[in-house]
Amino acid sequence: MFKLFSGTSNPKLAAGVSRLLHLPLAASEVVRFENSEIRVRVNEDVKNHTCVLIQSTSNPTDTHLMELFFFCDALRRQEAKKVIGIIPYFGYARQDVQHRPGECVSVNVIIKFLESIGFYKVYTVNLHDEATEGVFSIPFKNINAFPVLAKEIQKYLKLVSTDSTAVVSPDHGGVERARKFSDELFGHQNHTISVIEKKRDLEHIHESVALDLYGDVKGKVAILVDDMITSGGTLIHAAQLCLDRGASKVLAAVVHHDFAPGAAQKLQSSAVERFFMTDTIALKEDQKFEKLHEVSIAPLLADELKHLM
Ligand code: R5P
Repeated sequence: MFKLFSGTSNPKLAAGVSRLLHLPLAASEVVRFENSEIRVRVNEDVKNHTCVLIQSTSNPTDTHLMELFFFCDALRRQEAKKVIGIIPYFGYARQDVQHRPGECVSVNVIIKFLESIGFYKVYTVNLHDEATEGVFSIPFKNINAFPVLAKEIQKYLKLVSTDSTAVVSPDHGGVERARKFSDELFGHQNHTISVIEKKRDLEHIHESVALDLYGDVKGKVAILVDDMITSGGTLIHAAQLCLDRGASKVLAAVVHHDFAPGAAQKLQSSAVERFFMTDTIALKEDQKFEKLHEVSIAPLLADELKHLM
């Protein structure tokens, strides 16, 4: 009475979850027409089944979103009992307030669509701002991928001591996120977080500068924590500032690689020694680079789904 579907945005992750659950992916097809419209068809009997769809709304965001909506519609028309959306990367999550007068609040619009189209419950991974959770009026769960990233960094550093490691947020908005990561890394809450003062120029997309660093990174391994990388600017500038302030090396723990064109090359030649990131978004060939250490969240998703089966 449970079926697992994969959209086209991250089939490798969906296949990983299906393997771990010993549950084959249910049959469906997504046709792309030359005029860019898509058509989704569910090729299974789903009547009275709980259906779970894995689909990241990553770049091309709007196309992947429409596919997610159409899947839900197709499943509901076939009388699925419940449709559950697993959206490992939640596109538009950063547009959660009016940064300037006249702007839309895009994430609220997406949530309205998800609700009105008939999703029963939505899961995502490290949503940009936890406050967005309050916008949902259907059940929602924000899965935390920091335990898996912290574990990989612990292995990489062999032994992590609070004294020799500084967890750094690359902007003020990320302080709570960095704290959450360091709770996982150190296994306790008696630590301080260093913070970078970042200034973003909203008139020029993808441009930001790291103005100052509050905290002590001298002689320490600085671990920059963020939810996503797009242009790479935030982390690249933050890493350089950590080194300028005496950090012995810089690592990065970031959940989503929402890379803009050219980001991979810039990150490879940056001051960061290694980027620990998850597979919420499928990487294209030209987005892979040597310093990137990708950790799969398939086990986290499979654990969640086990409760539903
Ligand atoms: C900002 O609030 C986010 O948490 C990320 O720091 C930001 O979106 C990263 O973007 P970029 O890589 O383009 O600097």
